[in-house]
Order: sequence, then C-alpha cells, then structure tokens
Amino acid sequence: MPATVLIGAQWGDEGKGRVADWLAGDADVVARFAGGDNAGHTVVVGSKVFKLHLVPSGILHERVICVLGNGMVVNPVRMLEEIDGLAALGVDVSPGRLLVSTRAHLISPAHIALDTASEKARGKESIGTTLRGIGPAYMDKTGRRGIRAGDMNDLETFGDALHITLEQANETLVSQGYTPVDANSAVSDYINAAIRLRPYLHDTTAYLNERLRGGTRVLCEGAQGTLLDIDHGNYPFVTSSSPTVGGALTGLGFGPRYVDRVVGVAKAFSTRVGSGPMPTELEGPLAERLRGTGENFWDEFGTTTGRPRRCGWLDMVVLRYAAQVNGFTELLLTKLDVLSGFDELQIATAYIIDGKHHSLLPATNSDIENATPIYETLPGWKEDISGARRFDDLPAAAREYIRRVSELCDTPIHTVSVGPEREQLVHRV
Ligand code: IMP
Repeated sequence: MPATVLIGAQWGDEGKGRVADWLAGDADVVARFAGGDNAGHTVVVGSKVFKLHLVPSGILHERVICVLGNGMVVNPVRMLEEIDGLAALGVDVSPGRLLVSTRAHLISPAHIALDTASEKARGKESIGTTLRGIGPAYMDKTGRRGIRAGDMNDLETFGDALHITLEQANETLVSQGYTPVDANSAVSDYINAAIRLRPYLHDTTAYLNERLRGGTRVLCEGAQGTLLDIDHGNYPFVTSSSPTVGGALTGLGFGPRYVDRVVGVAKAFSTRVGSGPMPTELEGPLAERLRGTGENFWDEFGTTTGRPRRCGWLDMVVLRYAAQVNGFTELLLTKLDVLSGFDELQIATAYIIDGKHHSLLPATNSDIENATPIYETLPGWKEDISGARRFDDLPAAAREYIRRVSELCDTPIHTVSVGPEREQLVHRV
C-alpha cells in the first residue's frame, strides 16, 4: 500500500521536518494535511538550513511533487513569501511541483488580528497561539463562511467576498477596542497574491486518488502533534485542526485502504510551546540543559515564533496515548544526542492522580495538572553519539533507553536521529 502517514507524538516540534525529508527520499508525492504557517519545519541539507512553514519538506527532493491538502489553512501572502524564499535558495517551486487544494481555506489579515484579540481577551488563560490566524480561519471554515483557495480563480468575486468578511471582522475588532484592518489594502494584496497563486490551484483530492490508484508512494506529512489535536489534545490548549491520523485522511481526501504505515515521531525528551499541562516539565539547570542556549537552530526555541520551549523528561503516558490514538506502526525518536552526558535519565511511566495510578492519559486537564509522574531511572551515557549510524554503534545505555521506550508504548523503534544533518540517522539493521 502506497501511503505513509507521519505524525507528531507529543506537542509538535518533534523534528518531523527532518524525518519527512528522510522519508521523502522514498516518496513520489509529499502532502500536508492540516494546519497552516503555525508549523515550522527545519531541514538541513549540506550547508543550507531551510525553514518551512507551509510548503511540505518534500520540496527539497527534486522528483517529489508537493501537495497542500484541503485540510490546511493557507495565508496566500505568506505562501508567496515562502515560495520566493525557497526559489532564492535554488529550490524549484514552480506550479508543476507544488499543488494547492482548491478546497483549502484561506487565512486573511482579519484572522490574524482576531487571533491576537482573542489571546489578549483570555489574559492569563491565553492559549499561547502562534498568532498566525489559525483558530479564527478554522472557525470561519466550520462556521461555513470561510473563503477557499479555489475562490481565487474568480478575482472579482474573491475580492468582494474578502472585503465583506474583512468588514465583518472589523466590526468585531472595533467593538473590542482594536484597530480595524485596512480592508482596501488587504484586498489589493490578496488579489495580487491570487494572481500569482492561481497556477498552483488544483483538485488535489482527485489528483491524490488517481496517483494512489496507480501505486504512487505518498507521504502524508503531519504538522503540530497529537497533544495539540482539536479532539485528542489538551483542549483548549490545542490548535484548531486534526494533526492526528484521521486528519490525514480528512485533510487529503482518500480512504484508509491506501495506508499501511503510520510513523509516530517523538523527541527523546519532552518540549512544549504555549500553555497547557505538561506533567514532566522541568525548571532550572536540567531544563536549560535540554533547551540549549539558542545559539544553534536546533536548540529548543520555536521555529515560527522564537519562543523558548518548555522542556522536561520523556513522558510515556503521552506517547502511549499517541500510539493508541494514531495506531502507530513504528515510533521514531529524535534528538537522542541531546541526552548524551547525563549521569541518569528519567522516563515517566505513569501518573499518580488523587492517589490512583494512571498509565493512560486522563481526558481532563485538571486531572493532568494534578498528576505526579512516576519516574523510572535509566543509566545515562557519556559518549558523543552524533556519528552513530547503526544501533550497534550506540552505547549500551542508549540502546537500553530506546528498548525501554519501545517496550513502554508497545511500538517498534527502527530509527533514531542523533543530529540535524540529513545523514544523522541511526538505523536498526
Ligand atoms: P495555533 O495553532 O497558532 O492556534 O496555536 C495553538 C497551540 O498550538 C499553541 O500552544 C501553539 O504554541 C501550538 N502550536 C501550533 N503550531 C505548532 C507547531 O508547529 N509546533 C509546536 N506548537 C505549535
């Protein structure tokens, strides 16, 4: 079966970009299915560092066709900025290589303004969104008043519809004391963007089904992570889409018969940006050690917002839940190299909540907030493992860490990453 789905097993930022880049080497089509430019995928190829927000990581492989699926929300202006940035780095981003679903919804400047207004209104209870307008765009989609990418094909109707929605949003913004968006200039910017983006628009559902029927290998590249899923995450501290396996099918428009591989990606420890419960969160020197100083692009600072990420030990309650929700056929651990040098490593295997033992993630945040993790201590290793390429190259303690993680979530691990470079992957051979 030709489709592989790649899913973040934690709170996003698991290193899916580099994993997608690796898996794209065996794919003909790479398709993103949810979210928008809230995502930030960093991929290193030789001396070049690519920061992708909307365009799938597959674009860096010359023969791969990339798809932005119907489940995504696309900011046309940001999309063009990204296309131009990639073209400047020598990447072919011509319309034949990048297909945008006519059914994807558009993010307008009003959505961005409303995102900021909503976060301010929440005060201390803010979600900590990326302020890219994601939530308000999905609200317009489910409220059945959204504007879709295909609407850009008729410029006059598109401009009129956009103007109306901007004016409606402005009423809300003004009533809450915020500066309204300049509707005329926004419409003009979006019409210009539409003219450039029209050649990229396609019925990607028809395209993908035709390719899958013909046996084409499709990689479905997830963004964000399971705990940020609108249904399965720590609601309301979530994004507004479905970055889990079901979202791949809804967000691309094909059936499960084509999928035989669901790869979960988890960092070897935990990180989270934005608010919400995180039982294994650490503070002080241990957290700083995991986070890094920010000097390197792989340190734990958001690709999209630059915010320092909250850091903590690996949480197997979360991974077990993610494996269950997505039916992972394998788990891939990233950034194992960051754990080198610790005397001991901790893994949370369960929670104690009100005196009761929980090995599965509770459904309510108040329970998760009251959870005390039960830690298992594993020996650390001192060696630099960034040059390892086969499991046998790893110190025994690192192999034991991988074995125990795999056992605790009942999912095989065949690959781990030990650095940001394309070849810094360690395989079980
Ligand atoms: P939104 O998607 O901008 O609405 O943000 C909602 C929540 O999801 C916030 O906690 C964000 O920090 C988080 N989030 C959204 N996209 C990403 C991502 O790509 N990586 C990590 N966190 C993300």
